[in-house]
Amino acid sequence: MLHGLAALGLAAATRPVRPDALATPGIADSFCRTGSVPARRLFIPGNAGYLGRLAPRGDAVTFTAGAAAGAPAAMSNGSLAFSARHRGRGYANPTLVLQRGERVRITLVNALAEPTITHWHGLTVDTRNDGNGSFLVPPGERYDYDFEVRNRAGMYWYHPHPHGRTAAQTYRGLYGVILVEDDDERALRKALDVAPGSTEIPLVLQDRRAGVDYAPSPEDLTHGFLGDELFVNGTHCPYLDVATRLYRFRILNAANARTLSLAFLTVAGTPIPFTLIGNDGGLLPAPVQCTQAFISTAERIDVLVDLRHAAVGDTLRLSTLAFDAMHAESATSAPADHSAMGHAMPEGQREADHHHGGAWPEGAPRTLLELRLRKRVAYDRRIPESLSAIPRIETANAPERPFRLGFAKGRWRINDRVFEMGVTPIEVTRGTVETWLLRNYHTSMPHAMHLHAFAFEVLARETSPDAVAALAIDPRGRLPTDLGRKDTVLVWPGESVRIAIDFTHPFPGPQTYMFHCHNLEHEDAGMMLGVAVT
Ligand code: C2O
Ligand code: CU
Ligand code: CU
Repeated sequence: MLHGLAALGLAAATRPVRPDALATPGIADSFCRTGSVPARRLFIPGNAGYLGRLAPRGDAVTFTAGAAAGAPAAMSNGSLAFSARHRGRGYANPTLVLQRGERVRITLVNALAEPTITHWHGLTVDTRNDGNGSFLVPPGERYDYDFEVRNRAGMYWYHPHPHGRTAAQTYRGLYGVILVEDDDERALRKALDVAPGSTEIPLVLQDRRAGVDYAPSPEDLTHGFLGDELFVNGTHCPYLDVATRLYRFRILNAANARTLSLAFLTVAGTPIPFTLIGNDGGLLPAPVQCTQAFISTAERIDVLVDLRHAAVGDTLRLSTLAFDAMHAESATSAPADHSAMGHAMPEGQREADHHHGGAWPEGAPRTLLELRLRKRVAYDRRIPESLSAIPRIETANAPERPFRLGFAKGRWRINDRVFEMGVTPIEVTRGTVETWLLRNYHTSMPHAMHLHAFAFEVLARETSPDAVAALAIDPRGRLPTDLGRKDTVLVWPGESVRIAIDFTHPFPGPQTYMFHCHNLEHEDAGMMLGVAVT
């Protein structure tokens, strides 16, 4: 078994792997360690039911947000769901399969006892279709969306966005995946011979506190609501039977707050290289070899794992590795102030660092999914050298807009402000390019910054923490997951991330969007600013 996997590592690695730094002995013990829960077969979405693939192809579809009914036994996705019917099939939290250029008509029916609105995270739409909280649907009422799919092929998602209630409604189960397809996507599937449902598998990750409704403590509100257990497609302790070929995993971190450090490992804890082909902005220009990838709340990664050299009987693991979650804000001493910006963290501050999450502190390692090698098959495809053409955003004349992420007077803030509905502190001229400098204080925690409607380019990371800098693949400090386009970028304490945004859009009149931290507790408490594009 080890022989087969070692050969795989040697064959696929393009950079030396440092097993001493990355191997996580004992991680196996953390799989299904709580209680007597047995491992269960991973739930794989089909063409109906929970997370089922729904391709409207021009049909109007109704999404009803309400109580989750008839979730498969042994699955846990919370008490709420979007239910839908299409061409005789029933769905819960359908995976919307959309073609680039397609017109989408969805009616949201609010069967909740409180207002809601659905945001199509990552899609380039106008304000009325963005579902960003400017419009709310009262209980019992409906809202019609009608937009064209303008995005590149990729994995996007949807979730509620009523300000102040986003975290609770999302945690309770109201979210699903959007897969946009185009010519690049079709060419890739053909080249790799992968098919959704068998060799291309979505992995929707959410940490939950089993049996407990969303009831955050004051601490949870500051740091983010962390669950004790991880669910993959609603399955706890999942395993997947695999064969000796290539698999595509499309991974969404749908957690309210938890960042994960994903890696594929042997049972001995040795990393198995994988190929990153996409992120939240869609396919990358070219594949990149990785051994580990951070994925914050709302980020997505699209990865290929080549199991050709594994042996029948092997077990591999998708795990989150141990990392410093850098909750370097202090709950007891004074939180970040401006003098902390740009200065080294004071000696002794590290001891004040603390972790949250009770049974599963953020940054503690866990096995998330077991891959059980069951059969030998023939497979001879090669990963294409180029995946998608993405133009660089021309930044020569772009003004730079500075942002500071910090904590003051009991709340996380952007540029010292908290969100006010109807106020747009960020005013942008349509058709212009801007660079944004996102600076996080040293005495802070990581913030997953998301911009609605405009996929951006990550230009550089500066003063990154060592664990992040170690993954950089270019002199600008960028990570493999920063390549291509993005809609969410994790900014670590002490770090500065520079992004470029082209505010060209085809919608008539001024539009309003949101820029916010996607730690949903931070967002709901006001770590969000309105953006007017006029
Ligand atoms: Cu995923 Cu403003 O949201
Ligand atoms: Cu903390
Ligand atoms: Cu945050």
